[in-house]
Amino acid sequence: MSAPEPPSQDKQQDLLAKEAKFWDLQEEKIDALYARPHDWRFVPKLAEIIIRPRVRTFLRLLDTHKGEIKSLLDIGCGNGWVCHATAKRGIRSIGIDLSPKKIATAKRMAEEQGVAHLCEFVAGDVMQWRPREKVDLLTSHGSLHHFPAFAQAMAHMVEHHLRPGGYMLFVEPNHEGMPPDVAQFLLRVAKSRFGQKVFDFPFYFEVTGQTSLDGPAKPPDEMNVRHESPAGKEFFGEHVDLDAFFRANYDVLENEYYHYFASHATNAFYVFMKSRLVRFLWRWALPFVVWRETRKLRLPKYQQFAEDGLWFMRRKGGA
Ligand SMILES: C[S@@+](CC[C@H](N)C(=O)[O-])C[C@H]1O[C@@H](n2cnc3c(N)ncnc32)[C@H](O)[C@@H]1O
Repeated sequence: MSAPEPPSQDKQQDLLAKEAKFWDLQEEKIDALYARPHDWRFVPKLAEIIIRPRVRTFLRLLDTHKGEIKSLLDIGCGNGWVCHATAKRGIRSIGIDLSPKKIATAKRMAEEQGVAHLCEFVAGDVMQWRPREKVDLLTSHGSLHHFPAFAQAMAHMVEHHLRPGGYMLFVEPNHEGMPPDVAQFLLRVAKSRFGQKVFDFPFYFEVTGQTSLDGPAKPPDEMNVRHESPAGKEFFGEHVDLDAFFRANYDVLENEYYHYFASHATNAFYVFMKSRLVRFLWRWALPFVVWRETRKLRLPKYQQFAEDGLWFMRRKGGA
């Protein structure tokens, strides 16, 4: 796959500065975001159920390769949760993030969880960072798609941060938006008499910037922390096909897909839901929905619409 032309250095620096500001601002407002979530990711008790399949796979892969994986670099580590989890398994874990506020939180949480001695957190751009030694595993949970020049960034990180024969384990967006059948179903429910009564439309419109259910979203303010970050927006604009990119450049050893219905429906039936009864019922049904869709997502016809994908890889030929 031919990579899109990288943006100029000035444009990249400008975008990174905005990106750092966005994530700092998000961290400043994190309590308010959890108090009034606009997305399932900010409802911890439900997010934990939704991400359980990927956490299970992540830990299984670490266990299977535990002789070979003693150190890792988590790219765009945010509040450091991946490093905290891997440090608990005895892996020396380095997390790097553009946002100094996220890094301060990551350090505090490592202390609180008793893993600070196995964690190192760095505030800065991973592209400028020089490691003391190369790691056995590169990880990213939802961060690679925030890189202005994706193909060049990947080549740089694999070359400079990963030891020869090392592994990569990434979870990144796979498909933007809902699968068509899910979108139609949720739209039908939202337009029904029941939907008109129970959905919190004003909050939904405030978050999405839409003025009608099937109308276009108005471009959001640059620093609205309920929207996609500045660099994330550019990435989705470019429509990089990550699966095609990874398969063309690396040996994909394992690949899984997540979220067909459960995440979108959690937004509809919990996040933007006024009825306490529906919220209660959805919370109760969610583990079953996740279990069912995880099985469904083994089939390629559903995988193409999965929101997220996981790729476990090595350089071609295991080099
Ligand atoms: C969507 S967040 C994911 C955070 C975390 N991995 C998680 O799962 O919660 C993306 C993160 O990537 C970071 N990031 C983006 N570009 C980066 C870069 N060039 N160097 C380091 N971090 C970067 C951002 O600051 C942001 O915290």
